[in-house]
Amino acid sequence: MILKHHLVLTLCAVYGILLKGSSGQHPLVQNQTVTEGRTAIMTCRVEYNDQTSLQWSNPTQQTLFFGNKKALRDNRIELVRASWSELTISISEITLADEGMYTCSLFTMPVKTAKAYLTVLGVPEKPEIDGLTKPALEGDEITLTCMTHGSKPAANLRWFRNEKEIKGAKEVNASGKTFTVTSSLQLLVDRDDDGAAYTCKVDHVSLLQTPQQTTEVLEVHYAPRALITQSLTFPQEGQYLKLECVSKGNPSPDPVLWTKDGGELPDLERMIVQGRELTFSALNKTDNGTYRCVASNHLGTSSAEYILYVYDPNAMGQRGPDHALIGGVVAVVVFVTLCLIIFLGRYLARHKGTYLTNEAKGADDAPDADTAIINAEGNTHAEGKKEYFI
Ligand SMILES: *[C@@H]1O[C@H](CO)[C@@H](O)[C@H](O)[C@H]1NC(C)=O
Ligand SMILES: *[C@@H]1O[C@H](CO)[C@@H](O)[C@H](O)[C@H]1NC(C)=O
Ligand SMILES: *[C@@H]1O[C@H](CO)[C@@H](O)[C@H](O)[C@H]1NC(C)=O
Ligand SMILES: *[C@@H]1O[C@H](CO)[C@@H](O)[C@H](O)[C@H]1NC(C)=O
Repeated sequence: MILKHHLVLTLCAVYGILLKGSSGQHPLVQNQTVTEGRTAIMTCRVEYNDQTSLQWSNPTQQTLFFGNKKALRDNRIELVRASWSELTISISEITLADEGMYTCSLFTMPVKTAKAYLTVLGVPEKPEIDGLTKPALEGDEITLTCMTHGSKPAANLRWFRNEKEIKGAKEVNASGKTFTVTSSLQLLVDRDDDGAAYTCKVDHVSLLQTPQQTTEVLEVHYAPRALITQSLTFPQEGQYLKLECVSKGNPSPDPVLWTKDGGELPDLERMIVQGRELTFSALNKTDNGTYRCVASNHLGTSSAEYILYVYDPNAMGQRGPDHALIGGVVAVVVFVTLCLIIFLGRYLARHKGTYLTNEAKGADDAPDADTAIINAEGNTHAEGKKEYFI
């Protein structure tokens, strides 16, 4: 009984020594990463403490707090919690200069320390796009450059053309503690780029909720390209016809000019020009001819031609153009089929004849029927030649 009691006491004593010793009485800290402008919370803990003071000091070894006593005059630094087992302070409005190794000291003999590295993230500025000429001309080669300052670590820049990602050439330059990142995009300007939105986005660890981006919309000037579309495929006398001069250009072409056979439009009562459209209220055979429209802006001129052939509804019969076309197709199919039948018939008849006439000759020295035919054909050729030379 006494022996057992003694053993328990001994165990307690050993445990006590362990508690007071190296394992329990040691400051514990953690590295911190804080975005500039935010607040850093620095916590130092001791599991078992026999009323020994704790202290936080900054990278330049200045004491910030000794227990609950503030040591450095800096409004940004405040006490959060001070007890024998914890010393927590906060540093608000963090700047890049606050980055470094912070030390928590426990004033045992000898002093025990723990080091926490405070990493400050530099927030990239809103990117700027440079190199845009407004307006750009079709065929121009331009280089768009997107730049953002102040990121730490270096930000990533991404380009999008109308929401679709495209690859740019990135360059990173260090300036002090932060980085200046640029990304350039080489473009051969096309008329399709007119109105295209080019967006430069910044990706960075410090921008989780508010991505930074800038968009520029391209304006491209280009010469018009004219093209005539018609409302009827087979215009007939008396029908209504609309011709449209489709001419896209930027700036928008001046009113288009219509001519007929190189001269002015005749009879403006039945032909009406309205904007880009030329309409015939009722077609007449006399409208036959070559119609041309000309569109131009300060970058160039383009023209298109349309040859009008007014069909005579009487000459085409009552069936109309579509029936005529189907009739034509049917006629061609019938004709081709007939030709095939005649050709096949003649081919088969000729072959059958050759086979029959030569079978006897070839069969003598040939092992089978096929070889017999080949031999026979060879013979006829030779005979033909002989006849020729006689
Ligand atoms: C804390 O940061 C320092 C310096 O960057 C590094 O050497 C150390 O390994 C880090 N400690 C932990 C626990 O991440
Ligand atoms: C980055 O540095 C390179 C080389 O030092 C220099 O040629 C280039 O102009 C710099 N770019 C920017 C955007 O400062
Ligand atoms: C076509 O024009 C001629 C002369 O202008 C006119 O006599 C004729 O009636 C017209 N034909 C039709 C179908 O309008
Ligand atoms: C219109 O053109 C067609 C084909 O070129 C021709 O057969 C017809 O006679 C022309 N009509 C007139 C009025 O010139």
